[in-house]
Amino acid sequence: MNIVILAAGQGKRMHSNLPKVLHPIAGKALAQHVIDTARTLTPEKLVVVFGHGGDAVRATLAAADLAWAKQEPQLGTGHAVMQALPELAPNGQTLVLYGDVPLTRATTLKRLLQAGKDGLAILTVELANPTGYGRIVRDAAGQVLRIVEEKDATPAEKAITEVNTGIMALPSAKLADWLGRLSNKNAQGEYYLTDVVALAVAEGVSIHTAQPDGEWEVLGVNSKVQLAELERVHQRNIADRLLVDGVRLADPARLDVRGELRHGRDVSIDVGCIFEGSVELGDAVEVGPYCLLKNVKVGASTRIAAFCHFEDAVIGPDGVLGPYARLRPGTELGREVHIGNFVEIKNTKIAAQSKANHLAYIGDAEIGQRVNVGAGTITCNYDGANKHLTIIEDDVFIGSDTQLVAPVTVGRGATLGAGTTLTKDAPPDALTMSRAKQMTLAGWKRPQKVKK
Ligand code: UD1
Ligand code: CA
Repeated sequence: MNIVILAAGQGKRMHSNLPKVLHPIAGKALAQHVIDTARTLTPEKLVVVFGHGGDAVRATLAAADLAWAKQEPQLGTGHAVMQALPELAPNGQTLVLYGDVPLTRATTLKRLLQAGKDGLAILTVELANPTGYGRIVRDAAGQVLRIVEEKDATPAEKAITEVNTGIMALPSAKLADWLGRLSNKNAQGEYYLTDVVALAVAEGVSIHTAQPDGEWEVLGVNSKVQLAELERVHQRNIADRLLVDGVRLADPARLDVRGELRHGRDVSIDVGCIFEGSVELGDAVEVGPYCLLKNVKVGASTRIAAFCHFEDAVIGPDGVLGPYARLRPGTELGREVHIGNFVEIKNTKIAAQSKANHLAYIGDAEIGQRVNVGAGTITCNYDGANKHLTIIEDDVFIGSDTQLVAPVTVGRGATLGAGTTLTKDAPPDALTMSRAKQMTLAGWKRPQKVKK
């Protein structure tokens, strides 16, 4: 089986410099959705027909299993498939898909291929308003005769509500002959792929139709309006699947998954959360409102309060995080770690039961167990040229408003007095502080404003 994905169109109505098929749904290019679905059907050849914005399209979608066919100029859908011919296996079926129709399900395509096994199959839908689509013309017995494009249709044909979605399964052995016989003598002066249907009928090839389960499966993107509509359809489908699997969503309409979200039992997610890349939520994890998690693994029973931003981080079980916590790449938190508001952590390991509850920057550090990081603590990890490590051993207490000038180590059980600027290692089990002696100047007066 061959699959040809047509992606040469410009997409003028997107009003964008980005080629249409590269615009994202759920963070992934439209055409990438189509390619990913196509792959699940394990075609022998997978060919993308490209033209407009060709270099960007090829560079973005590049993969070892893809063949490319350039179509320039773009003379119609039949002409587009013709460009792919040299890449195609000569026998079996050829499935034609569209780079701007992202949500067709594999089960629907399998049904279409099955229907077309002994001939040609067209994926069709009944539309209350068929305007703009090619219409499926059938004879009195219901046999498909041909497809007529809107612009070439008679008033009677325009009244037909069964339309061509564009997706077709064709016998590969016939393709070269049929495509070679297409004419562009029609209202648009194009070589229509749809005209192969009448050629097939004339040869006695049996024509079948199949239908998708949902109309959204065959909707294409021609504008930002349609892009936004399909994004919501896709997100709702994801949300419904999560609900069916037992995730509690405060509102399935206010969730965005741009990647893969895996989860255990009794997970709950409040409104407005965004999950990107690969996210894994353990059993009984609670995610509060308006959090963004990208490539994050969260251990069981951890609670994440509102407005957290986590990226490339691993969080242990029974954690308490947020509101307003930021975990940057390379963060690894052990079990029962507490990270509170306005705490930023980067490239740092924090062991079990340690806490940084307020206003801190912790970068390039290793923190032991049961450490308390006071409010306003900062690891001065960057000297302007290089990054250095801060090590804080088990059971340390860091007083508020402390700066740890790396590289520096705070020994096990040490206490740092509030306001310390630590430039040398602090010994274990001792109180270390660097602080000007407190004094009061007797007789000191505030300056007065000078009258002019
Ligand atoms: C096509 C079908 C129509 C169907 C409709 C469904 C034809 C002649 N008509 O019409 O029956 O109802 O889709 O949406 O096939 N493309 C190329 N190269 C080209 C022309 C198009 O790659 O030279 C690609 C476009 O990028 C697009 C797709 O093919 O993804 C469809 O092209 P478009 O011009 O939009 O076809 P329609 O006129 O909508
Ligand atoms: Ca179209």
